Amino acid sequence: MAWFVLRDPRARATPDSNRRTMIETATAAVILSAGKGTRMKSDLAKVLHPLAGRPMVRHLIATLDAVRASRTVVVVGPDMESVAEAVAPLPTALQAEQRGTGDAVKAAREALAGFAGDVLVLYGDTPLLTVETLERMLAARRGAPHPAVVVLGFEPEDPAEYGRLIGGPDGALDAIVEYREADAAQRAIGLCNSGVMAIDGAVLFDLLDAVTDDNAKGEYYLTDIVAIARARGLPCAYVMAPVEELVGVNSRADLAVAERILQDRLRAAAMAGGVTMLDPETVWLSHDTGFGRDVTIQPNVFFGPGVAIGDGVTIKAFSHIEGACVAEDAILGPYARLRPGSEIGKAAHIGNFVEVKAAVVEAGAKANHLSYIGDARIGAGANIGAGTITCNYDGFTKSLTDIGAGAFIGSNSALVAPVKIGARAIVGAGSTITRDVPADALSVARGAQKDTEGWAPKFRARKAKEKTARKKASS
Ligand code: UD1
Ligand code: MG
Repeated sequence: MAWFVLRDPRARATPDSNRRTMIETATAAVILSAGKGTRMKSDLAKVLHPLAGRPMVRHLIATLDAVRASRTVVVVGPDMESVAEAVAPLPTALQAEQRGTGDAVKAAREALAGFAGDVLVLYGDTPLLTVETLERMLAARRGAPHPAVVVLGFEPEDPAEYGRLIGGPDGALDAIVEYREADAAQRAIGLCNSGVMAIDGAVLFDLLDAVTDDNAKGEYYLTDIVAIARARGLPCAYVMAPVEELVGVNSRADLAVAERILQDRLRAAAMAGGVTMLDPETVWLSHDTGFGRDVTIQPNVFFGPGVAIGDGVTIKAFSHIEGACVAEDAILGPYARLRPGSEIGKAAHIGNFVEVKAAVVEAGAKANHLSYIGDARIGAGANIGAGTITCNYDGFTKSLTDIGAGAFIGSNSALVAPVKIGARAIVGAGSTITRDVPADALSVARGAQKDTEGWAPKFRARKAKEKTARKKASS
């Protein structure tokens, strides 16, 4: 059940008018991901490390979807089946040996056979590129003077060992010089190569075939195609992008920097869409978190993937939510935990230290304190008392608890599934319910209360006397 359509905040960032200009020419993309990512010190391939709950490389794929790339191929190294799985159904191309970025793009030759549109080259470890930037690159490629290669440039605070862009006037580009080959004057240039390019597919592989490994690193530099194109009289150009979009992930520290930038974007998009965040920096979103309007989020709330929050929902502090749909005007938390498969109905309340998993909580139902609700349906308007547990697991299988509309479950009840509580039934506090309860019934399943009048003072007198006797005996 879905109460509203999930919104992709980034989809909104691109006006439709902008899009329409992009479909005149076909676009393909090559994502270079053969690098081993040694500095991540990880068993997980670098491009699969998640940002905002999704593998890095999938962020790029989503961005490429938005620019309507019709063919995307991911270049991987040996033993990267996990990457192939993560990008499926997109094809991968194997670069058997890492012989440079030019060689890596060549690995995509077969996958791009017969393609004469525009080819974007991206790095799998540089996932923060925006749709807007790629569209500007494609627009530059398609506009006069129709450059064969458009390079994305940037001006980092420290140009370090980036390749330098050797430009002509008006954004024209004559060459890219790698740091190792650059002379002092070239190294003094602040304009750097981000690595991202938009290339005329009709000439790409011809240009690449002219690239040699006659350089300091003994590698095939993709960057050489600019000078090669120029020598053939083909114009080249560069466009600029903010440094923020070009953060490359080489280490866990870089990963944290990229995560922060992405979170800032997601928060800004959520707030622009009508979400109030009391302390945005403490709210962690997933790439696909969807919000309605007039949602209020208190500090320290975490969203895992697959969450849709409806209009007017309030999420109080320290809640953790993943794989959940929350309908309008519901109130969650503080300290609520919604796990995958939670569907919270209109104006329902899920209170502190309440965990919900694979359960439908219908409109107006309340579970306000200290409960576990797993594999269950809570009917509309039902009240789940503090400490109620659905005992859904017997160590082998999971079973369902079905609670009818308007039922009242007394505090600290254990509902041993499979079990059905009829509509409007009342379960006495502290009950362990093992059989179905009929609608409108009262069900109490606990030891009967027995009162022995005057027992307590007699008990205390006897105990005091025993204690005195023991003390005397031991002195
Ligand atoms: C490259 C550019 C440099 C630019 C910099 C930006 C070249 C020759 N140089 O340098 O101008 O300033 O990026 O970050 O292109 N890769 C493969 N196979 C290879 C080599 C690389 O798939 O054989 C992939 C890597 O996984 C990585 C990307 O290509 O995602 C860039 O490779 P990297 O080695 O970081 O290039 P740089 O030397 O930094
Ligand atoms: Mg690099």
